[in-house]
Amino acid sequence: MLDLYNPDTYIPAPPHEAFAELRRTSPVCWQDIPGDEGYWMILRHSDVVHVAKEPRLFSAETGGVVVETLPQDQLENMRNMLLAMDPPRHIAWRRNIAPHFKARVIGELEGQVRDITKAIMADAKEMGDVDFVHDVCAHLPSNVMGQIMGIPEEDRPQIHMWAEQQTSGSDPDINPDTYMEPPSANSSMQMAMYAIEHAAKRREARANGADFDPDLTDLVLAAEVDGRTMTDIDFGSFFVQLVTAGNDTTRTMLAGGTLALLQHPETLEEVRADPSLIPGAVEEILRWANPLHYFRRTATEDAEIAGQKISAGEKLAMVYTSANRDEEVFDDPNGFNIHRSPNPHLSFGIAQHFCLGVHLARLEGRVFFEELLATFPVIEQTGQPRRIRSNLNNSIKELPLRLQVG
Ligand code: HEM
Repeated sequence: MLDLYNPDTYIPAPPHEAFAELRRTSPVCWQDIPGDEGYWMILRHSDVVHVAKEPRLFSAETGGVVVETLPQDQLENMRNMLLAMDPPRHIAWRRNIAPHFKARVIGELEGQVRDITKAIMADAKEMGDVDFVHDVCAHLPSNVMGQIMGIPEEDRPQIHMWAEQQTSGSDPDINPDTYMEPPSANSSMQMAMYAIEHAAKRREARANGADFDPDLTDLVLAAEVDGRTMTDIDFGSFFVQLVTAGNDTTRTMLAGGTLALLQHPETLEEVRADPSLIPGAVEEILRWANPLHYFRRTATEDAEIAGQKISAGEKLAMVYTSANRDEEVFDDPNGFNIHRSPNPHLSFGIAQHFCLGVHLARLEGRVFFEELLATFPVIEQTGQPRRIRSNLNNSIKELPLRLQVG
């Protein structure tokens, strides 16, 4: 059987055919990991939903959200992140942070997101020939996150680099020396140290009477959980998760989405002619070119999924890449159809841990494609895309394009 753990498997393309076959024959299938305990891959849409909806039985906290067994100190750090918390702690933390990410609050950022996007397009116009991933897409999430957290512009590229090392560490271009080794905590530690300093500086500035408009850093530092505000160390973990969760994924949506449109020229023309189709196109991009392949849970008790016995302590991967093409849920699942309605893809997860940044990601996606198509009547591929070596990130690392104004 194809090795579905090996990051090499994902370099040419996600293994959609193998997933389709397994959904039929072995929808909860065992996968070995060399030198580590293997895991169950959950491949059907309904089973992924079931696992996500049982956070006490299938824990995010016990072993974190990636399939490798992490060292204890790394796990301890992760447990300060929403992503790797279980109820009731998760509920208490999320309740405090969630109001800042509601649709209405995020909607107010549209003007800022559009200004940032227009500036990126203006730079791209100057360049003409670009590596679309790094010259164009990468700038939007890192500047948006930077702006809403009040990070100085000159520090944003470094933060982006740390985020990329964390989520795509198994790619030789991103981690030349250690890409074959298990995930390391170095880049997240460096980012957390930066964030701790950022929080300390902000508290000092406010104590000294600085009266600029509050940003997300101020709001998060003021939020109370269990009757106390965040320490600078809590803030460090929170910042790392926000930047890591929001950077690569969004960049991937933008780059993967542009490639999907170029591969479907009639759809591209349709969207150009009627930009009101862009929100539907963004959803289909998320389904068809989902930025994350999976997130993990750990069984806290013996369980059974689709007739397969799972023992307490075993790992499970909710494979979004497979669930998003489940023929039980989607007609013509391999087709790229921006008119799908409903489109119940699982690219943002579902239930308790449903992506907190969903409204921001959708806003960035919509504004980006509106501005891209309005600025460049001609977009041409000048070389082959290169994909990241990763079983977690479904990302393109290089997409050579020529952007023309007419
Ligand atoms: C296209 C872009 C994005 C994708 C595909 C994505 C995907 C996901 C997924 C699949 C989860 C669920 C994790 C789980 O069930 O274990 C998640 C959670 C999360 N996302 Fe996103 N995300 C995106 C953008 C963002 C952005 C822009 C932010 C922040 C501004 C963000 C912040 C978070 C946070 C904080 C969580 C944890 C929520 C919790 O555990 O309660 N994400 N995201």
